[in-house]
Amino acid sequence: MHSIRFLTGITTSGTPHLGNYVGSIRPSVQASLRQGVESFYFLADYHALIKVEDPARIQRSTLEIAASWLAAGLNPERVTFYRQSDIPEIPELTWLLTCVAGKGLLNRAHAYKAAVDKNTAANLEPDMDVSVGLFMYPVLMAADILMFKAHHVPVGRDQIQHIEMARDLAHSFNHRYGEHFVPPQAAVEESVATLPGLDGRKMSKSYDNTIPLFASRAELQKLIAGIVTDSRVPGEPKETEGSALFQIYQAFASAEETQDLRAAYAQGIAWGEAKQRVFERIDRELAPMRAAYHELMAHPAKIEAVLQAGAAKARAQTRPFIAELRHAVGLRPLGLSTKASAPKASKVALPSFKQYREPSGQFYFKLVDAHGHVLLQSLGFDSPKAAAQAIATLRREGTSALATLAQQLEPPNASPDAVGAALALLALTD
Ligand code: TRP
Repeated sequence: MHSIRFLTGITTSGTPHLGNYVGSIRPSVQASLRQGVESFYFLADYHALIKVEDPARIQRSTLEIAASWLAAGLNPERVTFYRQSDIPEIPELTWLLTCVAGKGLLNRAHAYKAAVDKNTAANLEPDMDVSVGLFMYPVLMAADILMFKAHHVPVGRDQIQHIEMARDLAHSFNHRYGEHFVPPQAAVEESVATLPGLDGRKMSKSYDNTIPLFASRAELQKLIAGIVTDSRVPGEPKETEGSALFQIYQAFASAEETQDLRAAYAQGIAWGEAKQRVFERIDRELAPMRAAYHELMAHPAKIEAVLQAGAAKARAQTRPFIAELRHAVGLRPLGLSTKASAPKASKVALPSFKQYREPSGQFYFKLVDAHGHVLLQSLGFDSPKAAAQAIATLRREGTSALATLAQQLEPPNASPDAVGAALALLALTD
């Protein structure tokens, strides 16, 4: 497999806003058009249940978000576009990952910690009103990502920790059961990773400072007119630094257009006029999509059909993969001989001892990790038996044998910890 896999999800808890568009939808649609890229985009409706209690809102948001992605040019033939809850293998994988997830790891998740800190500050029980769903959020997200062996996950900066947790969980699972998962990487678009909202803070549903992506032209104009500015009067030079209006413009404008507005700021453009320019520029990009969006919203059954087709495409991958994972962890038909796991186990990337003879006539061994890096290198032994005895000592006694064997080893180029971990892993699989 040589194409790069991109995957991202949007939680179906609200109406898409400009921040979602600039930070996620637009770059994702662009990425999906590149050669050598395979894209997976989905509606994270299980995640939405963590924050939204109103069923009608979940459904409405799912429709709006699906329509937004399609209106923004996502081609469902080219990508795999699906709804999370149509893929039962995802909650199933969530459980498998739950069983390798350290509780301590999840205790450190930002969203959970923020909830606990808030309670503590208010003198409440730390876990007051915290659902286990919120606590498990990163594990469900890891299942989304690992299920499709995604390499790159385009997300906002606030989600980076979740991707790191997905990597940790991939490593933990692989370590225990063999190389099944690809550890993913976060892909943050540096230039426009987060868009400010009406009040200058990050545009976010939780701050109630958003501009809906498909507000009507009139509404869009009104909202942009409401973006905070300072009190400088017309003719007075304006600062671009820290200007939410400027940053929003930048996310839509070319480098040249941005330069022009910068110059206008320096020359003291009136805020009202600057806002009009920003409005016209954004509206130019959005107007054609807005029309497509309303057309789609009027035909929800069409969107449903697109999602069903996407689920079928997605499940062509998730069904065989979950079967592999079930087998790996031991959820197996009883008719199968337990020995049937042997070939699988041997596929597991393990450290190993390699014994060999040099032209000098002496016998050597080395300990290499799963990637072939040398962790320990012996000096020469007179007989293969002597080399084998040293290996047996290492296998039996672990790192404590390193001191005893110091005379027969080259100075290790790996830490005792790395050697110890490799020996422990070998002992486990004996
Ligand atoms: N947590 C993401 C957000 O709130 C949404 C999400 C769910 C997601 N699962 C994902 C993003 C997997 C990327 C990959 O923005």
